[in-house]
Amino acid sequence: MSNTCLLAVLVGGVLLLLGGEGSSQLAVGDRHTLVAIRKGWGNPRHLASWDPAAAAADHCSWEGVTCSSNATTGGGGVVTELSLHDMNLTGTVPAAVCDLASLTRLDLSNNQLTGAFPAAALCRCSRLRFLDLANNALHGAHTRDIGRLSPAMEHLNLSSNRFSGAVPLAVAALPALRSLLLDTNRFTGVYPAAEIGKLAGLECLTLAVNAFAPAPVPVAFAKLTKLIYFWMSEMNIIGEIPKALSSLTELTQLDLSSNNLTGAIPAWVWRHEKLEYLYLNNNTLIGELPRTVTAVNLIEIDLSTNQLRGEMSEDFDNLRNLTFLSLNRNNLSGELPPDLGKHSPLSSIDISRTVISPNIQWIEMGNNKFSGSIPRTAIKLLVFSAENNQLDGELPADMSKLANLIELKVPDNRITGPIPASIKLLLNLKSLNLSGNQLIGAIS
Ligand SMILES: *[C@@H]1O[C@H](CO)[C@@H](O)[C@H](O)[C@H]1NC(C)=O
Ligand SMILES: *[C@@H]1O[C@H](CO)[C@@H](O)[C@H](O)[C@H]1NC(C)=O
Ligand SMILES: *[C@@H]1O[C@H](CO)[C@@H](O)[C@H](O)[C@H]1NC(C)=O
Ligand SMILES: *[C@@H]1O[C@H](CO)[C@@H](O)[C@H](O)[C@H]1NC(C)=O
Ligand SMILES: *[C@@H]1O[C@H](CO)[C@@H](O)[C@H](O)[C@H]1NC(C)=O
Ligand SMILES: *[C@@H]1O[C@H](CO)[C@@H](O)[C@H](O)[C@H]1NC(C)=O
Ligand SMILES: *[C@@H]1O[C@H](CO)[C@@H](O)[C@H](O)[C@H]1NC(C)=O
Ligand SMILES: *[C@@H]1O[C@H](CO)[C@@H](O)[C@H](O)[C@H]1NC(C)=O
Repeated sequence: MSNTCLLAVLVGGVLLLLGGEGSSQLAVGDRHTLVAIRKGWGNPRHLASWDPAAAAADHCSWEGVTCSSNATTGGGGVVTELSLHDMNLTGTVPAAVCDLASLTRLDLSNNQLTGAFPAAALCRCSRLRFLDLANNALHGAHTRDIGRLSPAMEHLNLSSNRFSGAVPLAVAALPALRSLLLDTNRFTGVYPAAEIGKLAGLECLTLAVNAFAPAPVPVAFAKLTKLIYFWMSEMNIIGEIPKALSSLTELTQLDLSSNNLTGAIPAWVWRHEKLEYLYLNNNTLIGELPRTVTAVNLIEIDLSTNQLRGEMSEDFDNLRNLTFLSLNRNNLSGELPPDLGKHSPLSSIDISRTVISPNIQWIEMGNNKFSGSIPRTAIKLLVFSAENNQLDGELPADMSKLANLIELKVPDNRITGPIPASIKLLLNLKSLNLSGNQLIGAIS
């Protein structure tokens, strides 16, 4: 803690003694503080309810204010949370905020706040555990001051600002962090992977969309075994997806898209049973699709724009929750199943395979070498986009089993035969492209 901050804490303590320790005094103090904060922001319209002259005596009912209901710490009236997102606030974070001595949660996201990281204003908030400054216009290279925040900090969200320079080593001063969101800023250079790797409680880590120096995925992150949400897109990652990251068994979202990843997709990715969202698109990954897929809870898979080859194994049948599958622009092959989701794998009547989830809504597989014909049955399908493949056969005679389609895009295949009259049953269709096939007839 810097000397400036220490001094401020001492002064605050003296004032507290002079004012007495009773809860009512604390609460009155908090009311005055709220009024000072409002004034500091130029009495913005969204804080109109924070009016000391108005009848509402209880400041705990003011917009965005939450008070403690803990009898031990002072009955009521003590402000513990400020939730001031989407309030069109401008200017900087007022120093008075930390006169709210019991403040644990401060949400200022989605405003138009400017200035540097408000360390001087926030370092006195000794109980702060949650700070959300996402989606503002904060800037500057002095984020090392985050080390002056309360060591009790659990959630720090600086996403979507204009912070620049290096990600500070000072993250290590916040050992209780569970979320660290630094994505979508202007950070550069090398981020402190070893220090971040020591934040053993991290559940959410986002470093995406920053102009870091090209570097591999840090093996130090393999220690973050509680990680659930891992967003590392568009940040100049090179090299292979490390085997060591197989330790991250709690992951539900893994996003390494839009980097320069090379090599094959490691087997562990397809085995993490908690994984729901997998985005590895826009890299230069090679190798075949996996034979064994036990990550049965996958909801979205985007592998588009890589150099993958091979076929989808029967194990993709097991992804019952899959709604989005993008395989565009690879070198994949194999025959599409005629019916998506019609047959249970255990059905004794018809043993034909499903291969793609019955719940699938979105399939993109353009620019590959897929064969077979357009699915006949896919009742939940909204988008089927498979341009430039080797699909053949005819369009399904009864298109009513594709009734939810919004987009059907299959140009440049080998589809033959008539355009079925039932195409007019696709009442939701907004986009249709059948060009570059050998179809005959008109759409009536
Ligand atoms: C009330 O505050 C005291 C002192 O901070 C704390 O020990 C206790 O757990 C709190 N009780 C509740 C119900 O939050
Ligand atoms: C936000 O403030 C600007 C002026 O600073 C005003 O033009 C705009 O209408 C406000 N928007 C909302 C949603 O209050
Ligand atoms: C910022 O991160 C916190 C913690 O993960 C999260 O609760 C909050 O919703 C995020 N804010 C925005 C604006 O997404
Ligand atoms: C990553 O690949 C893109 C092209 O896809 C290339 O322009 C860029 O230089 C590469 N960056 C690194 C760090 O290799
Ligand atoms: C692909 O990734 C590069 C960075 O490697 C990025 O600049 C580009 O916008 C990405 N393209 C798409 C379509 O996402
Ligand atoms: C699919 O989603 C449902 C509902 O969210 C969930 O109960 C189930 O465990 C998920 N996984 C599988 C494999 O069905
Ligand atoms: C695609 O795979 C075929 C073999 O299936 C191979 O001959 C061809 O070179 C591959 N093309 C690319 C661009 O990798
Ligand atoms: C249909 O697809 C072809 C081939 O991709 C493309 O050239 C054409 O512009 C598309 N037509 C429309 C109307 O989008």
